[in-house]
Amino acid sequence: MSTELSIIVPTFNERENIQPFVNAIKNVLKNINWELIFVDDDSPDGTSSLVRELANNDNRIRCIQRIRRRGLSSACVEGILASSSKYLCIMDADMQHDESLIPKIYLLLLNENLDMVIASRYISHGSTGTLPGLRRIISLVATKISQKVLKVNVTDPMSGFFMVNREFFEKIKYRISGRGFKILLDFIVSSREPVKFKELPYTMRSRTRGDSKLNFLVVWDFFILVLNRFLGEILPYRFISFMTVAFSGLILHLLILWIMYDISNLNFTLSQSVATFIAMTTNYIFNNIFTYHDNKKSGNYFWRGLLSFYLVCMLGAIVNVALATELFQRSVPWILSGIFGALAGAIWNFTVSSIFVWGRARPTAK
Ligand code: GDD
Ligand code: MN
Repeated sequence: MSTELSIIVPTFNERENIQPFVNAIKNVLKNINWELIFVDDDSPDGTSSLVRELANNDNRIRCIQRIRRRGLSSACVEGILASSSKYLCIMDADMQHDESLIPKIYLLLLNENLDMVIASRYISHGSTGTLPGLRRIISLVATKISQKVLKVNVTDPMSGFFMVNREFFEKIKYRISGRGFKILLDFIVSSREPVKFKELPYTMRSRTRGDSKLNFLVVWDFFILVLNRFLGEILPYRFISFMTVAFSGLILHLLILWIMYDISNLNFTLSQSVATFIAMTTNYIFNNIFTYHDNKKSGNYFWRGLLSFYLVCMLGAIVNVALATELFQRSVPWILSGIFGALAGAIWNFTVSSIFVWGRARPTAK
């Protein structure tokens, strides 16, 4: 009999949850012919080897192990690409998503002409359960932002538990960004036509084993993703992150200049040099943490990266000043010359550092 439902489960350090999760799936899906694909990013706790053991005894189960890669969304996309059935269910491995809802979601998707069915925490009878206060606030803010800025009309665009029709996935697959945590939102904003969806309520359970991987970086990624989509995807994702960091550098620069030159009456050139040097350093550190968190430099590589970043920025400053001077001499107003120079410098810094500072580094998996 052909497979009717593919369940795609991204995992990172979920070893303890795998067996209970598989048992739960087997229990609730007695009448559906399913396959279960775990996409594991080489978890240090050995999730992959456990999944392979189970797969060895049950050919409905499979493990896709990715090395030197991280990311919930891209894991889901790759799991889908490796699956075969007409309906695709995305859910977490940690038992927070109520598996008893799967048959209902499946029947709804099967019987109505829909692109997707979403398990929602924000319709009546649904709830975030015991989700801690801060997490609930982040989730609500992100939900409101997606609804307002990206004009998404589902109640829980942050849900990690939903089912889609493969035909729908086929239509959007080249537009999915695959970045970050927000796979459902990514799917919705990747569709050119309004998404035909329905929602079913569920109460999110609390996690009993292992830890959540949602941290500040995930939140940062989310905001950059929203900005990227809001700006019509003209600017590359990392460039937006890079420019956000550059903006923080500018504020810091002006602050240092103000303290040293204006308040402490120090020499202007000295103040400007110190401010530049410090802003360059913090820009490097923030870009390493945020813009390139999937390719972060540490140990010796951190210091080598810092030196090459200084070099790149110094050349960037030359590009900046040369262009601004040239424009100014061609009687372009000073403010425009200044802005174009600074922009050219920033684009230079971004492009060259993406190749020479972070480009060659091999991401570490753990
Ligand atoms: N392959 C892979 N790679 N899997 C990952 C990664 C990764 O980098 N990061 C997390 N995962 C897996 C986890 O192992 C888990 O199975 C699932 O993705 C969700 O991660 P959690 O760390 O448990 O996230 P959460 O509970 O804080 O948030 C989840 O639930 C929310 C509400 O439904 C996510 O699904 C959110 O997207 C969702 O909003
Ligand atoms: Mn979870």
